[in-house]
Amino acid sequence: MDLLLVEKALLGLFAAAVVAVAVSKLRGKRLKLPPGPLPVPVFGNWLQVGDDLNHGNLAALARRFGEILLLRMGQRNLVVVSSPPLAREVLHTQGVEFGSRTRNVVFDIFTGEGQDMVFTVYGEHWRKMRRIMTVPFFTNKVVQQYRAGWEEEAARVVDDVRADPRAATEGIVIRRRLQLMMYNNMYRIMFDRRFESMDDPLFLRLRALNGERSRLAQSFEYNYGDFIPILRPFLRGYLKICKEVKDRRLQLFKDYFLEERKKLSSTKPADNAGLKCAIDHILDAQQKGEINEDNVLYIVENINVAAIETTLWSIEWAIAELVNHPKIQKKLRDELDAVLGPGAQITEPDTQKLPYLQAVIKETLRLRMAIPLLVPHMNLHDAKLAGYDIPAESKILVNAWWLANNPDHWKNPEEFRPERFLEEEKGVEANGNDFRYLPFGVGRRSCPGIILALPILGITIGRLVQNFELLPPPGQDKVDTTEKGGQFSLHILKHYTIVAKPRVF
Ligand code: HEM
Repeated sequence: MDLLLVEKALLGLFAAAVVAVAVSKLRGKRLKLPPGPLPVPVFGNWLQVGDDLNHGNLAALARRFGEILLLRMGQRNLVVVSSPPLAREVLHTQGVEFGSRTRNVVFDIFTGEGQDMVFTVYGEHWRKMRRIMTVPFFTNKVVQQYRAGWEEEAARVVDDVRADPRAATEGIVIRRRLQLMMYNNMYRIMFDRRFESMDDPLFLRLRALNGERSRLAQSFEYNYGDFIPILRPFLRGYLKICKEVKDRRLQLFKDYFLEERKKLSSTKPADNAGLKCAIDHILDAQQKGEINEDNVLYIVENINVAAIETTLWSIEWAIAELVNHPKIQKKLRDELDAVLGPGAQITEPDTQKLPYLQAVIKETLRLRMAIPLLVPHMNLHDAKLAGYDIPAESKILVNAWWLANNPDHWKNPEEFRPERFLEEEKGVEANGNDFRYLPFGVGRRSCPGIILALPILGITIGRLVQNFELLPPPGQDKVDTTEKGGQFSLHILKHYTIVAKPRVF
């Protein structure tokens, strides 16, 4: 009897497998999928390509399979796009079709399943959030309102480094101080707040929670549960930690910043338009019923991640490259001295008058792109790309780093050479006017923060180079520029020490 049951079960399984193979063959015939390595059942290509799908590994795959390729990561389809014309197609021509975002189990937690702006699908909610965030964050008026604050923050960095005797001798990890500066630059805009020192307890709590959030979200540790849903129960512990971090973080934003600001504005006269900071505008939108309190919190969450880290990483890379290329550093200092006069501290409007500074920034963003695969895009519905079928809800990675570092399109791309942007690549801007160079993306989901990021980079890098000679620490001739990639981020592996010798004017 038992044997009969087993026999029946085996027969049933066999029949199911035959049907599954037949169905998949039929579907396979119908769909013309992009090329890629041959997937195996259940795991797809995961075991072949591994977890770390960084820009370099994906560029190697593009060399093998071409400008569009498909990877099956367990249950997930991942399409990698690696040529300027296809980047144009995804980001511009079919910008609506490919304008959504994928989330995974972890990003679902940190974004409240897309109640934010960065990770929400393309549609009504995204449009509303982007509109509400534009006036308080992403206009030239904001730059003009806050530029004096950014200049002051950069001046304080210079003062603190000058005052630290170790800076000119054994060296300092300058990132720590720059991180405080970036928090202050953004918290001024958001809440009209700043933190006095690197030891400020509230700053330390914020920094720790934001750091945890990034680490947990960018890690590859949870891929298995994302790729293969039946393994998801094993992720329970990881997801529990994510949820705790998310809850503590949003509570911190709420208790220490939102509620404080609400109290403050309720005691101020109604006509305080001139003094409004970003959150006042956002709270107005909440009061009008356009968004709810969770949306407000997720806007704060988005800015903490999208604005602070990306800009900080880029400053960190720029300084590393300038330390490792003393001639370029000197040329930049000479430009600053010649255009502004020695000792005259660079301000935001000056950044427009300094072509070599602009070129150094562009070259940093080219070689050391903070978001080298952009923030993953997604097509909500079945779509077509380069004549191939792209199944609905595929994750679309545009390898922006490879577009900007492909030797077929760039002269010696591995070299850090700002001059390229004054010579053969003159006219290429960071705003996406050339599909080979998209450090901020382009099109509907492109980075709206570019308008703030570029002047902050200019002021900060300018002030450091004007006021210090930046050198590797004693006993080293270069700082280590090994990279560390995450799900879609790229930063320096080790926060280096540098010597900053003050200049005397
Ligand atoms: C050097 C600094 C920065 C770099 C390299 C950078 C890069 C990027 C990139 C590549 C994207 C994704 C584009 C795409 O998916 O097509 C993005 C999106 C975004 N960035 Fe930035 N960013 C920087 C600074 C900032 C700043 C300062 C802010 C805010 C003040 C900001 C806010 C955002 C937002 C809100 C999005 C999501 C846009 C959307 O989904 O509609 N970023 N950024």
